[in-house]
Amino acid sequence: MGASLARNLSRNVDGSVAMFDLDESKISALVAAHPEANLSGFSHLPDFVAALAVPRVILLMVPAGRPVDAVIESLTPLLTDGDIIIDGGNTHYPDTERRVAECAQNNLRFIGMGVSGGEQGALLGPAMMPGGDPTVWADIAGLLEPIAAKAEDGQPCVTLVGSGASGHFTKMVHNGIEYADLQLIGEAYALLRAGGRNAAECSEVFASWNTGEDRSYLLESAATVLAQSDPDTGGALIDYVLDHAKGKGTGAWTVIAGADEGVSVSVIAESLFARSISSATAERQAWAGDPVSASADLPVDAVRDAYMAARLIAYQQGLALLATASETFGWNVALAPVVRIWRAGCIIRAGFLDAVSRVYAENPECVSFLSMEPFRGQLLERLPSLRQVAAEAILGNVPTPALAAAVNHQTMLMSGALPTALVQLLRDFFGSHTYERTDQEGNFHIIWEADRSQHRR
Ligand code: 6PG
Repeated sequence: MGASLARNLSRNVDGSVAMFDLDESKISALVAAHPEANLSGFSHLPDFVAALAVPRVILLMVPAGRPVDAVIESLTPLLTDGDIIIDGGNTHYPDTERRVAECAQNNLRFIGMGVSGGEQGALLGPAMMPGGDPTVWADIAGLLEPIAAKAEDGQPCVTLVGSGASGHFTKMVHNGIEYADLQLIGEAYALLRAGGRNAAECSEVFASWNTGEDRSYLLESAATVLAQSDPDTGGALIDYVLDHAKGKGTGAWTVIAGADEGVSVSVIAESLFARSISSATAERQAWAGDPVSASADLPVDAVRDAYMAARLIAYQQGLALLATASETFGWNVALAPVVRIWRAGCIIRAGFLDAVSRVYAENPECVSFLSMEPFRGQLLERLPSLRQVAAEAILGNVPTPALAAAVNHQTMLMSGALPTALVQLLRDFFGSHTYERTDQEGNFHIIWEADRSQHRR
């Protein structure tokens, strides 16, 4: 990805792009392989640093974690005040918070930047989510804007999303939503298969959904991969792919962050744990003697509407988490520009994001884009299908944990009173945790073990 970004930069900025890799042969081969690009390669760090104009802007594309610290340690003594280090990896945001502070102590400016779009995106135009000190944006915008993907209105899919670690947090949330959308597509696929369609027919259904505001890169991708035949057998490739889904951590981090921030990201969580169940080989094997078979015959339009409704709920959950974390950490993230830069280049790009961005631009304080028009109306129209599909999926043995999480999330939001009143009362009963009342201010406790009188706490 680093090489692809360097080639993208060389096409878009004046002068040569300096690249560094410890492996001399690798870097020379890279430069030789792309004579059209104005690239220079280094494997000696002081030479690389000396080749850069001041203030230096160095983009790290190294594996997240310890390697990032190691590179920063090596670079720091070679840099001068005001130089900028950008970490473009999928770094866990607490590491970025720490590095921002450590670099500031050395008078270096540190930017944690999420980059989405894979290797092709890096080459042709990724979506980039930098976060850090606002004064740094003026020095990096001219480098990043030309290489970013462009939305349909021509705007580059990069902006400073906020201060501190907000860039990496934003990318983490992007990936959490990616987990949810992938799982929801998988569940829609399972329902279509349970209705008797083969892979090629499912591909056609996904292609037919991929229009207008409903369109998305992942729907288009689903149509593509389901149409793929198996080079070995000639059958549909999907029918030969092992169902153990893996992950590299960003989905889990999103779920942990949701728990830390007290924000429900239940659709993302179910999508993460669906991967866990898929890979729980021994436990799945333990039930192999009592198989259930899937059967559901749902109208395609109902499955589509259920999927679209659940997808909106997943995006709303992710964005609510980002807004809350921004408050907690004081990052000043505005959701309108974040959603704007997700409109192209990134994995979760989708047709409706332009309208989501407009909702946030017009209502910067709104707690939920989904509660605002036009999305409120769309959701209410599609919610009956989501309920019907989730219910029939359960009855028909089609596992749909993300669809179920979405419908339950929305039903809870729309329920006047929740059974969590009983949770509170039970907590008071066994642990004196107190409860609040609907009709009076304050915290209350019942003396359960004696006269059962009520007291303010
Ligand atoms: C992107 C992707 C990219 C990658 C995920 C995959 O935006 O380009 O999100 O970052 O696909 O890291 O994550 P898992 O391996 O955890 O599914």
